[in-house]
Amino acid sequence: MVDVILGLQWGDEGKGKIVDFFAKDYDVIARFQGGPNAGHTLYVGDKKIVLHQIPSGVFHNNAINLIGNGVVLDPVILKKECDTVAGFGVDVKKNLFISERTHLILPTHRALDKAAELSKGTQKIGSTLKGIGPAYMDKTGRNGLRVGELLDKNFTTAYIKLRLKHQRLLDNYAFTEDISAWEEEFFEAVEYLKQLNIVNGEYFINDQLNKGKKVLAEGAQGSMLDIDFGTFPFVTSSNTITAGVCNGLGVAPQKIRDVMGVTKAYCTRVGGGPFPTELENEIGEELRKIGSEFGATTGRPRRCGWIDLVALKFACMVNGVTKIILTKADVLDSFKELEVCTAYNIAGKETTEMPMNLGKMNIVPVYKKFPGWNAPSSTATKPSELPGTMQSYVEFINDYLGVNVHYISNGPGRDQLIQVSK
Ligand code: GDP
Ligand code: IMO
Ligand code: MG
Repeated sequence: MVDVILGLQWGDEGKGKIVDFFAKDYDVIARFQGGPNAGHTLYVGDKKIVLHQIPSGVFHNNAINLIGNGVVLDPVILKKECDTVAGFGVDVKKNLFISERTHLILPTHRALDKAAELSKGTQKIGSTLKGIGPAYMDKTGRNGLRVGELLDKNFTTAYIKLRLKHQRLLDNYAFTEDISAWEEEFFEAVEYLKQLNIVNGEYFINDQLNKGKKVLAEGAQGSMLDIDFGTFPFVTSSNTITAGVCNGLGVAPQKIRDVMGVTKAYCTRVGGGPFPTELENEIGEELRKIGSEFGATTGRPRRCGWIDLVALKFACMVNGVTKIILTKADVLDSFKELEVCTAYNIAGKETTEMPMNLGKMNIVPVYKKFPGWNAPSSTATKPSELPGTMQSYVEFINDYLGVNVHYISNGPGRDQLIQVSK
């Protein structure tokens, strides 16, 4: 069976740490969408590592890791990541597999991302500028190049043809930056990528499942950044929700068992777009400071606010979440009072439904206040050691969502995770 770990908010919920924690119980860890826009942080000993495309199970020798067809892959970034993990003794030639159907991010995709963002002016998405949008556009536009094609002797011809197409678009944007250095790196990295395990991902994973192996699918970004169900157009370009596992790996829906949804005990967003519970005040500043809320990929400060149960319940619905994992609970340790958004007030009317056009509406969040626990929680190792007030905060979330918090993460460390429900 396939279990899934994915983000329920606007990304950066702590998925990397959680996947790393659970990886020991699985045989295969697979990324099914997104690309180097992701930044998944985990710790090996006291060393912090940020993974972008390689699944977060890579530090467990028992597991193999698959980059699925739903991912868009930048060979340059992959090569750097492989060098980093090799420094920790990981042999990627043994435990990393890449689907031949995975689409490639080309240097011109990065240039197009930059040019498109610039042209949007104040309406820019706040993209990570890794070429994600243009690469997925070439996939759905039926132009893209895939990893399997690298092995074809005509790859360079196909590349030049697509590059010419991109150049016309770049000329339209009046984009004149010289990207020849990016291209040089790209072709060097392509030679490296060709030596890795390029497989037929859908047969690979189904063979594993047929042998009774356990698969963990690792989501990138978060449900509110989903191309269909997120805060469009301020979203990423892939399906970040559970459904993305099926088309991003080639597994059938009935193979999916647990969907573990990761959410922070508060909320953050990086980049543009609506964020109803955002706190543009000293409380937001405190959350950013205590939670070290700066992007793992771009270093940008993350916007911070209270937990939004309207958005979370919506995310639980579209994902079929079976277990919640609540992260960064320790970040709230010193707050005297906490607030939880239970409804949106839109033009005088309260609703608990996620509107289609969140960005265009004047939303006043309806809050329920909770006393803070005002006690250190990061040293707790079992439920009884967690502050009582934290437990009532969590019970309220359980009741509202109709799905229970099964684990509470109380620090960035690998073992700072407490099971609170079976
Ligand atoms: P991801 O993209 O979902 O994997 O999350 P990121 O790695 O971008 O951001 C999460 C950040 O929070 C990282 O710096 C983690 O080390 C850190 N983190 C994860 N869980 C916890 C936690 O429970 N408490 C604290 N204080 N930090 C955490
Ligand atoms: P992880 O996996 C947080 C945001 C960007 C931007 C929008 C579109 O680490 O949780 P894109 O580069 O996809 O064109 O950007 O989505 N974004 C993320 N925000 N965490 C991420 O990944 C993100 N990946 C993209 O900031 O607003
Ligand atoms: Mg991240």
